[in-house]
Amino acid sequence: MVKPEWGRAAIYTQHGNPQDVIKVYDFKLEALPEDKILIENFVAPINPSDVNVVQGVYPLPKDRTEFTVKSNSAEGGVEKLVGTIGGNESIGRVLEIGSKVASISQQNFAVGDWVMFMSSPVASAWTTHTHVSPNEVIVLKNTHGLSPTQIASIKVNASTAYRMLLDIVKLEKGDYVIQNGANSGVGQIIIQLAKRWGYHTVNVVRGRENFDQLESFLKGLGADIVVKEEDLESPEVVALLADKPVRLALDCVCGPQAMKMVKHLKPEGVIATYGGMSKQPMPASAPILIFKDITFKGYWVSKWYKKNTPAKWLEMWDDIMTMMEKGELKEQVTTPINWFSGSGSSEKPLDIQEVQNAVTSTFTSGRKEIFVFTNNY
Ligand SMILES: NC(=O)c1ccc[n+]([C@@H]2O[C@H](COP(=O)([O-])OP(=O)(O)OC[C@H]3O[C@@H](n4cnc5c(N)ncnc54)[C@H](OP(=O)(O)O)[C@@H]3O)[C@@H](O)[C@H]2O)c1
Repeated sequence: MVKPEWGRAAIYTQHGNPQDVIKVYDFKLEALPEDKILIENFVAPINPSDVNVVQGVYPLPKDRTEFTVKSNSAEGGVEKLVGTIGGNESIGRVLEIGSKVASISQQNFAVGDWVMFMSSPVASAWTTHTHVSPNEVIVLKNTHGLSPTQIASIKVNASTAYRMLLDIVKLEKGDYVIQNGANSGVGQIIIQLAKRWGYHTVNVVRGRENFDQLESFLKGLGADIVVKEEDLESPEVVALLADKPVRLALDCVCGPQAMKMVKHLKPEGVIATYGGMSKQPMPASAPILIFKDITFKGYWVSKWYKKNTPAKWLEMWDDIMTMMEKGELKEQVTTPINWFSGSGSSEKPLDIQEVQNAVTSTFTSGRKEIFVFTNNY
């Protein structure tokens, strides 16, 4: 494995909308500190929370770092840049291990091991290469023969879906879960895990031209019922759900739309808000609270990671990867944004302006995308 002199990263120097503030740079990979590991990333998804971090509205403070970058000026050369690499989730491999790592880490790292990037105040994910402290990554000794793209969203989306179905209410087989944003990455995993664990799902999505196509995609994953958000209060949907034991609502939208979903919960049901895609506050009504005694709560998978040991994280990820290996669970659908052209030994980095264009358009595409830094894994 060759250790390159330069890495390439999507960096912001100030908060703002990522399409405006994220710039792609080639940065110098300095000598590896003794207590760090050099990682080569394969892939990194783009999550809504990553956008919020760049905007400066997500509680995940990131320090700024000084980089030596290749200058974009006509004269060329290098310049100093103080900024932050975007992203918070990636899969990569160990290229080099600092001489003190073995003595300060309980993890057993070897060159070539795959790692899951966890979190760091300094390091981030949208980069071809990075230096991380050993506690900022988890080594994955068994990746079940899966590709980086299959594993890429396990830490955030798949684990959130997994935990929310297990930890919020004690569901019984045959119970119904209603969720909005059902076509989201999290939503796709919720549908599949619920089906596998014996629960039914009511899946709320916004209406669209190709609704039928989306409905069949979600039903193909195991969705029982798919409804348009705008039909939630229609007599047909009210009648359809009247006798269904809907005990849990999973909400990534919030706002008045989420309240329409809450009305389908059975008395003493629970709604857990885990995202705020509508950017609207929740207008909980008195009758819902008084007569139906609905519990409103939040869910943040980061809290679960903080409360549990890495051994527990690995146990869950291993379960998820085993289901994927057996073909029982499909990863969320993503569109790859390659930072390279060619394949195999002919793979080479794209021109930096081409990567910049692809990265910028990612933030306005409306699609779920994933940066692919290399296919040589
Ligand atoms: N709390 C946690 O621990 C945790 C963990 C993981 C994810 N999350 C959150 O979960 C949410 C989904 O994440 P993801 O990565 O799965 O997202 P994603 O795949 O990018 O999908 C986004 C979803 O949001 C919907 N949406 C966007 N704007 C909307 C609006 N104004 N009203 C209604 N629906 C809207 C989209 O529907 P359309 O197709 O109609 O645009 C799509 O279903 C995000 O808010 C994310 O931050 C939270």
